[in-house]
Amino acid sequence: MYYKRVGDVPRKRHTWHRDGGGRRLHEELMGEEGFSGSSSLLYHLNSPSALVDIEPAEVEHAALSANLPLSPWHFRASKLDPGGDLVTRRKLLLANDTIRISWAEATSTNELLYRNAGGDELVFVQSGEAVLESVFGVLPASAGDYVLIPSSTTHRWVIPDGSVQALVVEAAGHVSIPDRYLTATGQMREGAPFCERDLRPPELPVVVDQSEAGPGEPVPVLVRTRAGWSKHTHAHHPFDVVGWDGCNYPFVFSIHDFEPIVGRIHQPPPVHQTFAGPGFVVCSFVPRLYDFDPDAVKVPYHHANVDSDEVLFYSAGDFMSRRGSGIGSCSISLHPAGFVHGPQPGSVEAAAGESRTDETAVMIDTFSPLLISEAARSVSDPDYPASWSREL
Ligand SMILES: [Fe+2]
Repeated sequence: MYYKRVGDVPRKRHTWHRDGGGRRLHEELMGEEGFSGSSSLLYHLNSPSALVDIEPAEVEHAALSANLPLSPWHFRASKLDPGGDLVTRRKLLLANDTIRISWAEATSTNELLYRNAGGDELVFVQSGEAVLESVFGVLPASAGDYVLIPSSTTHRWVIPDGSVQALVVEAAGHVSIPDRYLTATGQMREGAPFCERDLRPPELPVVVDQSEAGPGEPVPVLVRTRAGWSKHTHAHHPFDVVGWDGCNYPFVFSIHDFEPIVGRIHQPPPVHQTFAGPGFVVCSFVPRLYDFDPDAVKVPYHHANVDSDEVLFYSAGDFMSRRGSGIGSCSISLHPAGFVHGPQPGSVEAAAGESRTDETAVMIDTFSPLLISEAARSVSDPDYPASWSREL
């Protein structure tokens, strides 16, 4: 990520810094990979370490089981019960040791602040309007936005109105822009499918200064680690940052700003890559011209990505290659390693006379097999595994 500066920061790092009333501010270095990776410096009105209570916290646990006997799956995410906030009521669908993929249809703002200490979160907003409030500031998000939240960012999701549907990726580590899109000095290369101008960082700090009105009430924060959940009660509101700078902060990238790379014949899936995570990649499929050679087969060939389980979230449009399979908006397919998948019967012929596709989809390829939750199984389509052999 590129350097960003917001609000009030001192000229030199690690030096005395006071607010307008002469109060010493508390500097926090938030850094990845033992402070040798990306980092930011935040300036708090109060100590971010002042806890008054630590308790266990109970959040719904989802049972997972292996994909046995091995099968392709189609889950209809929008059939899952809506309600609650975007954190504690997200429904875990698929997971392994490096990634958890959930669906949320949130109708309320987080009751408690939240911090995921187990890794970054990548939230793809399918519908609705939400605002990510964090120690870094305010970040509005709407349909088509990826929101990348670095590990240990204290935040909450504000739902001003209605509901927000989202696909949520919890990584066991850091999610980043692929290395091959970056120059040796970290700038996005010409030829990459998006650039810095397409990334939206927080602009204004959210400053809750309890000291102005007295000591204030302690503030509970739900903390998730890879071992489970805790509740930390802070003496001061964590949103007391008057300024920050650095390269480690949440940002938004709209899938509609992804510039597709097309060719005379079929381009392989890596041209769609958007993010890299530990043990997985995320790709964006957006409206684009079809391959333009007169003899080009326009929908993808059968393929066996032998090291990956392939998850595809169908966001919008007409999913040409899945013709006749029952796939629609908010469908999620899982094509696991060990299963050769490709176009459904009739798809190749149907696409032959077309010049473009209007599909929008998010693909997640994981490098270890995914376990499947009971919630996912409860909204699965039993006819999907046989959809490639169905007569049209
Ligand atoms: Fe595929």
